[in-house]
Amino acid sequence: MTKPQYQSLLIIDFGSQVTKLIARRLRELNIFCEVHPYQRITEKFLTEFKPKAIIFSGSPKSVNDENNPKVPLSIYRLGLPILGICYGQQLMMHQLGGHVEGGIGTAEFGPAYLSNERNLKLLKGWFKDGSELVWMSHGDHVSIVAPGFKIYAKSLNAPIAVVADTSRHFYAVQFHPEVYHTPKGSLLFKNFVKIAGFTGDWTMNDYQKTAILKIRATVGDAKVICGISGGVDSSVTAALLHKAIGEKLTCVFVDHGFLRKEEAQEVLGMFKAKMNIPIIHADESNLFLRELEGISDPEKKRKKIGKLFIDVFQKYALQIPGAKFLAQGTLYPDVIESVSFNEGGSETIKSHHNVGGLPKKLGLKLVEPLRELFKDEVRTLGTELGLSKTFVNRHPFPGPGLAIRCPGEITKEKVDILRNADAIYIDQIKKFQLYDEIWQAFVVILPVRTVGVMGDKRTFDFACTLRAVTSIDGMTADYYPFTHEFLRDTSTRIINEVPGINRVTYDITSKPPGTIEWE
Ligand code: XMP
Repeated sequence: MTKPQYQSLLIIDFGSQVTKLIARRLRELNIFCEVHPYQRITEKFLTEFKPKAIIFSGSPKSVNDENNPKVPLSIYRLGLPILGICYGQQLMMHQLGGHVEGGIGTAEFGPAYLSNERNLKLLKGWFKDGSELVWMSHGDHVSIVAPGFKIYAKSLNAPIAVVADTSRHFYAVQFHPEVYHTPKGSLLFKNFVKIAGFTGDWTMNDYQKTAILKIRATVGDAKVICGISGGVDSSVTAALLHKAIGEKLTCVFVDHGFLRKEEAQEVLGMFKAKMNIPIIHADESNLFLRELEGISDPEKKRKKIGKLFIDVFQKYALQIPGAKFLAQGTLYPDVIESVSFNEGGSETIKSHHNVGGLPKKLGLKLVEPLRELFKDEVRTLGTELGLSKTFVNRHPFPGPGLAIRCPGEITKEKVDILRNADAIYIDQIKKFQLYDEIWQAFVVILPVRTVGVMGDKRTFDFACTLRAVTSIDGMTADYYPFTHEFLRDTSTRIINEVPGINRVTYDITSKPPGTIEWE
């Protein structure tokens, strides 16, 4: 457990799909918070963590199930403000003497309208125009409120939608204020942290100063290696480390040859020329292409790239004498251990490219200075460290790069065609000023040649597909609704300007059932 020196809020996770969003909403309000699974919550944990307030998440479970997820009853005697959300509300009622029931006709999934019963500080600014839209997702409902609580709002199927015991600062809501479908959810959190006395002391500038001191204390005089992929996270990690330890940092940029157009030069230019950070350019594109020859199965490709990446990194890292630490750009969403109720264990959809095996192999200790941050916080930190806004706001790019956007066998010819088409597509998106509205956009070159006619000549070239999605975190996504004008212009430009492509399609699959990448 990290011991934050900021005023901190504890989020107890009971297994809801959207617990991370509670943390997001709070971070937006400059509140430091951490998510911990309910099994970890003991009196000792609470004493060490010293929360200023607590939030209970939702859960797929019922409080009436045998072995339902719960918290020690002593939590209610700490004198701290508590907010229960959905299952969190039901648990609070159940543990404090109320009653929760299931039953046909009381479930609510989706939008619901909340009406006000009496005023409550938690709902300050709500109900100005009568009822409020909220997002519900519950099977059970509270049927008897616990002693000391009053009802403050109701919905059609949740007559006890908001309850509170204002003398103890206990608040509990049946709906989900953390999701974007509850438009005034952020205001509810703002009211809650105000009631709890938070001053909003979590700022990026403060974070940067503390992180630099922490890095210096951890690393001492040792050298640090940082793997650079060209992505935002590893670049910000490197910039932060450089500010903290200067010349003691060496970056290794493994160039597998599947980067976007001019990306390698951009990264090298930024690190070497602009930031004066020593960087080793491991240009191993030929090796990767050679080793991938003949492989068309997506999982085999991913595994091969992952293994080669580690081998190459190791080769270069061993040439840096005195290195004791490896810096990685791990982010908070990867650190949160969400409770999984999937008894069968979850299925591997794709083997993600990561360098998890590296520290052990190299005998290096890890430094992960972004472990407490969300992606947009990393972007803010990056800009504060002097990285350009255009760079830090780039769309996410997968570790295996263009290799997983080239279904079927990978050849240099196909990767080059794809790289050119992708550059035009992104250029179009920027011209139409859509880049920041879209979460991720790229081209996939399809393993099929089609017949076309250009001038008076027959062509027999590759088809490609354009992908553009909106998303919050990449877990779910929807296709971006381009105008026909955009699609027509872009298709024309790609076919005219990229030899090797004579047909353009647009992928309108959401995730699920699709995934964002094709492989
Ligand atoms: P999928 O295709 O699983 O992708 O819907 C979700 C997000 O993850 C990115 N992605 C990766 N990122 N290493 C990464 O660092 C990987 O191996 C990898 N595979 C997919 C993908 O681009 C999307 O943003």
